[in-house]
Amino acid sequence: MTRRPHLRKRAGKGADDAVIAEPELLVGLDIGASKVVVVVAERDGTSGEAQIIGIGQALSRGIRKGLIVNLEQAVQSVRHAVEDAKNMVGLPIVEATVSFGGSDVTSIRSRGMISLGRVPRQTTIQDIERVIEAAQTEVNVASNQCILHTIPVEYSIDGHSGIDDPLGMTGVRLEMELQSIILPTAVVQNVVTCVQRAGLRVQGMIIKPLASALGVLTNEEALAGASVVDVGGGTTGVAVYAEGKPKRLSVIPVGGDHITNDLACVLRIPISKAEAVKREVSLDENPESLVDELEFENRGKRFVCTVKEVVDVIACRLEELFGTLVSKEIAESGVTMLPAGIVLTGGVAKTDGIDQFISQVVDLPVRIAQPLDIHRMPPGRNGLEYAAASGVIRYVLEKERNAFRYLEPVLSVPGAPVSDDRTKRSSGVKKTPQGRTSFQGIIDSIKKALKELF
Ligand SMILES: Nc1ncnc2c1ncn2[C@@H]1O[C@H](COP(=O)(O)OP(=O)(O)OP(=O)(O)O)[C@@H](O)[C@H]1O
Ligand SMILES: [Mg+2]
Repeated sequence: MTRRPHLRKRAGKGADDAVIAEPELLVGLDIGASKVVVVVAERDGTSGEAQIIGIGQALSRGIRKGLIVNLEQAVQSVRHAVEDAKNMVGLPIVEATVSFGGSDVTSIRSRGMISLGRVPRQTTIQDIERVIEAAQTEVNVASNQCILHTIPVEYSIDGHSGIDDPLGMTGVRLEMELQSIILPTAVVQNVVTCVQRAGLRVQGMIIKPLASALGVLTNEEALAGASVVDVGGGTTGVAVYAEGKPKRLSVIPVGGDHITNDLACVLRIPISKAEAVKREVSLDENPESLVDELEFENRGKRFVCTVKEVVDVIACRLEELFGTLVSKEIAESGVTMLPAGIVLTGGVAKTDGIDQFISQVVDLPVRIAQPLDIHRMPPGRNGLEYAAASGVIRYVLEKERNAFRYLEPVLSVPGAPVSDDRTKRSSGVKKTPQGRTSFQGIIDSIKKALKELF
C-alpha cells in the first residue's frame, strides 16, 4: 500500500486535535496474455472503504499461455500499463499485488491435526499456526517448485466440521483442511523479475483463477457451489467453490487465441481477419444465416467461407475446452454438485451465445459474470476481461480482514520481497520468544527450495 504523498494529515471538523488518516493506494496488476491491467484503488484511511480511482492498461507482448516468453517485451507491457494508470490517477505507483496465469499449477489438499490438551480450552493464534504447519508438512514440494498460496479450507474442533474461524473456540482437538497452490519457482521468479524491472515492488501475488473468482463470484454462489471459469487470451482459469471456499484452483493453457489460430489455420485466413470474424459470429446463429458467405482477401487472394464453417471451428475448440479440460478440473475438485453452475468470465465470454452453448456441453447452468465492482470501474474498462484485475483489489482487502484466509509465503527471491500481511491481523500474530513467527517453517522450506534453484 502506498500513502498518497501530497495528502497530509489534517484537522477534523469541529475537533482541533482530531486527524483524518491519509488515504492509501491499493494497486492490482493483472498480467494477461492479451493485455496488462493496472487497477488503482484508494482506501479512505478513516472509513477503510476502498474506491477504484483508475484502471490503466496496455497490450501484452512477450506473454504466452500464462508464461513470460520474452522478458524485455513483458517488462515494456507492464511499464506501459503502469504509465497509463499513472496518467489516469495522477499519482506515483511504486508497488502492486500481481495476478498472473502461470502454468503447471498444482492444487493440493492436506489435513493437519493438533491436540489442545486433555482439558477443553480456547484456541489461540499459536494453535492455528501450529495446525496450519501440521497440514503443511503433509505437502511435498519439489525443490524446483514453490507454494504460492496456502488457503485454509475448513477447520474442525473435536470433530465438528465447517468452522470458518476457530480462534477462541473451545475443544481438545483442532483439525484443518488446507489447500496449497504450487507452481514452478522459475515461473514465479520470472513474473517477479518482470514486475521489478518495470519499476514496481511486488507486494503480493495471486494466481489468476483465484483473482477472477474474487472478482465475480457472489457469496451465495460460493456457498451453493460453483465453478468460475475465466477464458482469457492464453489461459483458462478454473476455480471450483463449495461451502464458500475454493476447493480447487487450476490454469489450463488454452484460451481465446487458440480459437483465433484454429480459424486462421482451418479457413486459411490471416490472424487479424480470424480475430475479427471470431468476434462477429454468434454460437446461437439462426440456421438460415449459417449458409451466408464471408469473403476475405489475403495477399491478393480471395477466400470464401460460410458462417457455419466459422461457428463449427469455434464450437469445436470450446467443446474440447469445456467438455474435456474444464470438466476434468471440476471432477478432480471432488465437488460433485454445482447448483450455481459455471460462472463464466474473461474476454472469450463475450462470444455471442456462448452461455447456452457451454450449458449444453457441460449440462450445468451458465452465468456470464461481469465484475462485482462493475459500477465502481471506469466505463470501457469494467467488462468481462477485467474480472481478474478487479479481483486483485478484493484479495488485498480480504487478506487484511482475515489474515488466515489466504496465506502468502514470503518468497526469498533476491530483491523481490513479497510482504507477509499475516502479521497485520488485527488480533496480532505474535512472534515467538525466538522472534520467529510460527509460519517460519513454511517460509524456511520455501527459502530452501529457492536457494537450491538459484
Ligand atoms: N467479442 C468477443 N468475442 C469473442 N472473443 C473475444 C471478444 N472480445 C475479446 N475476445 C477474446 O478474449 C481474449 C482476451 O481475453 P482477456 O482480455 O480476458 O485475456 P487476458 O486476460 O489478457 O489473457 P489471460 O487471462 O489468458 O492471461 C482474446 O482471445 C480475444 O480474442
Ligand atoms: Mg486474464
